[in-house]
Amino acid sequence: MIVLGIESSCDETAAAVYVDGEILSNVIASQSIHEQFGGVVPELASRAHHKTIWKTVSQAFEEAGVKPEDLDAIAVAQGPGLLGSLLVGLSFAKGLALSYDKPLIGINHIDAHLYANFIEHDEIYPFLGLIVSGGHTRLVYVDEPFNHEILGDTRDDAAGEAFDKIGKLLGLPYPAGPVMDKMSQSGNPEFHKFPRSMVNKGLDFSFSGLKTSALYYSQKKGEAFVQENLNDICASVSAAITDVLTIKLEKALKKRPVKHIMLAGGVSANSMLREKVSKLAEKKGLNVMIPSIEYCTDNAAMIAITGALKARDKQFDGLDMKPYARVS
Ligand code: KG4
Ligand code: ZN
Repeated sequence: MIVLGIESSCDETAAAVYVDGEILSNVIASQSIHEQFGGVVPELASRAHHKTIWKTVSQAFEEAGVKPEDLDAIAVAQGPGLLGSLLVGLSFAKGLALSYDKPLIGINHIDAHLYANFIEHDEIYPFLGLIVSGGHTRLVYVDEPFNHEILGDTRDDAAGEAFDKIGKLLGLPYPAGPVMDKMSQSGNPEFHKFPRSMVNKGLDFSFSGLKTSALYYSQKKGEAFVQENLNDICASVSAAITDVLTIKLEKALKKRPVKHIMLAGGVSANSMLREKVSKLAEKKGLNVMIPSIEYCTDNAAMIAITGALKARDKQFDGLDMKPYARVS
């Protein structure tokens, strides 16, 4: 089974080739143009995808030693994401599918983050997944491929968004998540006790209260204090976010007592979260799946492997497939 994966839902243009259970190439062209604006500018993102997609896909073919003629399917991120960005990847995939007469598969980007775990771990069900990205914080119970029961979801800011917005108000560059992670490693997580929002209320997530709390704290303490104690403040914010995520995951285990748990999405690259979830798994005697860093943040390998799972069941889509910004 040979599948090409294409990802263009936000600000990474990516292509990957999957061959018989292995990822043979995983090319990512990140867009640095957004840094100066402190966030992704949709119009600029679409233009940058358009400029780099051909080069990215060609490189993925070349590195894998695969030609378009060899493909069994072309998988492409269909949504959720920025419509203009998704359109570039989708149109490119459709063109390729039409030219080489290959089946096309539209992939849900959030599902792909989950199934990225099966690049390096055995495919196993049922599992409980915690998806933590820039747009979503979601707890799902999965008993068979693509049968997802959503146990908890984002009420306002997603976990990655919380890292990015709080980082921005602390003066850190976009995206602040990875920077805060690095600074936290030499900081004291107990320096200040930020709120652990909604830990006793169901399985949904809310991080906007934490953002407000961090804003008031930094205003009250002043710029000089914040800059002097930045590592400790970053560690304290990270502790609050990762505590909430771990506590909710443990609660979800009471509702769906599974043997396998997994982390997925950009925030699963966070060292504090990886450590806390690994400890939870150890305490409960569970198998934990956490992707390597390269498969945590947006990439096309996750699209390719999810495509392979769908191609296995001949779940193909037509050339009239449309992108979607949100999941209804
Ligand atoms: O999954 P992803 O690459 O894109 C979306 O689908 O949203 O996630 C991006 C998010 C950003 O908010 C980024 O700051 C966050 O993941 N992120 C991290 C880390 N690496 C990426 N957050 C905390 N610690 C990290 N190491
Ligand atoms: Zn993503």
